[in-house]
Amino acid sequence: MASIRELPELLVNQIAAGEVVDRPAAALKELVENSLDAGATRIDVDLAGGGTRLLRVADDGHGIARDDLPLALARHATSKIASLDDLEAIGTLGFRGEALASIAAVSRFALTSRARDAAHAWRIEAEGGTLHSPQPAALPEGTTVTVQELYFNTPARRKFLRTDATEYGHCDEALRRLALAAPRVAFALRHNGKAQLNVAAQSPAERVAALLGDSFVVTSATVSAEAGPMRLTGWAARPAFAEERGGRVREGQYFFVNGRFVRDRVISHALREAYRDVLHHEAQPSYVLWLAVDPRSVDVNVHPTKSEVRFRESGAMHEFVRHAIEKALASTASEQAPVSAASRLGGDFTAVPNWQGAASSTPARAFGGYPGTASSGGQQRPLGLATAESMRFYETLFGNASREPAPPLPPATDGGPPPLGFALAQLHGIYILAQNRDGLVLVDMHAAHERILYEKLKATYSERVPVQPLLLAQGFAAERLEVAAVEEHAETLRAIGFDVGITSPTSLAVRGVPGLLAQADATSLARAVLRDLREFGGSRVLTEQRDELFATMACHGAVRANRSLTVAEMNALLREMEETERAGQCNHGRPTWYQLSLKELDALFMRGR
Ligand SMILES: Nc1ncnc2c1ncn2[C@@H]1O[C@H](COP(=O)(O)OP(=O)(O)O)[C@@H](O)[C@H]1O
Ligand SMILES: [Mg+2]
Repeated sequence: MASIRELPELLVNQIAAGEVVDRPAAALKELVENSLDAGATRIDVDLAGGGTRLLRVADDGHGIARDDLPLALARHATSKIASLDDLEAIGTLGFRGEALASIAAVSRFALTSRARDAAHAWRIEAEGGTLHSPQPAALPEGTTVTVQELYFNTPARRKFLRTDATEYGHCDEALRRLALAAPRVAFALRHNGKAQLNVAAQSPAERVAALLGDSFVVTSATVSAEAGPMRLTGWAARPAFAEERGGRVREGQYFFVNGRFVRDRVISHALREAYRDVLHHEAQPSYVLWLAVDPRSVDVNVHPTKSEVRFRESGAMHEFVRHAIEKALASTASEQAPVSAASRLGGDFTAVPNWQGAASSTPARAFGGYPGTASSGGQQRPLGLATAESMRFYETLFGNASREPAPPLPPATDGGPPPLGFALAQLHGIYILAQNRDGLVLVDMHAAHERILYEKLKATYSERVPVQPLLLAQGFAAERLEVAAVEEHAETLRAIGFDVGITSPTSLAVRGVPGLLAQADATSLARAVLRDLREFGGSRVLTEQRDELFATMACHGAVRANRSLTVAEMNALLREMEETERAGQCNHGRPTWYQLSLKELDALFMRGR
């Protein structure tokens, strides 16, 4: 066996490059983030050959002093944090000090910079990690980084690069995210000498309109919510307009935490939940949302690319985001969209006379005083809580991290009646009412089914999810990056039970779906999964994002609101719930069913006193 030795620095940087800059778009993101951290007000990006041949980022930020230039290219050298304390409250996009070192190790690299008070600029070059000493140079202000022939010295990595068009597609998306994250900064993008994007410093609304189309802003619900230290602002597409917008508007899911684009399962789940009863045709909701939180409440040091975060209070965050979106969608729905599920449901329910008077207090008590359940189970979901009340609710969550757990499943009695009893009826296409030994059981049918599918997917995965071939392949027009995702993640798709073929550069065909989800709409299911794959990127999808993929699939495969179930189907669902591990709560602690005992019912009607 070989003896243990330290790796040479160049090799260390090349290994890191595999993670931090696995494709041109990732290098672009790191460079532009550095410009934003330097306080730039204008950022110019030039690309050639999908970013592989040339990647140049020029900014007007504060620049780097001559003596710091070699340090800027050194590994683990950063001006952004100095202590563990700083690490726990990150206020900049970068902090790990490894991007420039990694990029310089795998390219022909040059950085020219003029510090604010310097007489002139300095330029430092590196070729495959070999540093040259700084030379005087001409540059009016800021910093310009030029990266040529990315991966010229790491052929293994170069092999993973796709066509220029695909790589450019990823760069374009990376820059869109950055431009949406920082509307007050002007951006320009050129590819192979052709202007692709040019936006001046703008208000958030103008920036969103520039990147997603005017009609996106006009037809979306404005989101503006605040609770304690959290603030959520932006736009969320109103479902009523999803079809109307058709191809005229770019779709997109953009969520920023303190100016950083993130993919987070807590957040995506909260958004899915907020949309699930109002989005009929399983379309993907589009949104651009900025979340501002105390940097101490979120850990961004989860992964080298920093696109994943961990919230310290993820349950509270989930509730906050869900309520904020539900409220935004509901208010605009009742004001402007004539028929939508949200307004119809709310209207019907409050019309029941005896509940109306007691709406604000009695159901809350009857539902065990758990505010999240009270609002969703008692009456109209988002509007059930008055603003002041929801503020108090968030404060309770923040003050006290522990939440009331979902009820435990009643113990099964051998040969006796099943714990969740037998179905009586379906309420408003959303809840199943069942009678069991103790009284009334209320089940949120979508949430329960979603949970069952999720657990089943996880359980079957160990031997690959079986594919169910479709009788007729379903073809659909696809975006360039969706086609790229099929090409890049062919193996993953097969492993999770999909058979998707590329039929042209802009069309795909679903030929098979996971057997468990055979009931779902194959096209929208495939698109949702492709979107996840595309956004997770990289090669770690299956190992690290498996559960999130399964959550997406389960959500799409589960029965939607307003689908009527037969009593037999409802009973089947109840039996599956009893068998499914953790069926009592969804991923984020929201109950999927609730027991209302005869005693509680008696109390409601003041019986037996
Ligand atoms: N465009 C820029 N303008 C000013 N300083 C920069 C720029 N790019 C990089 N730097 C400096 O180089 C250092 C190293 O950059 P990088 O390797 O990306 O690590 P990090 O951003 O994590 O600190 C930064 O901390 C910063 O001081
Ligand atoms: Mg950086």
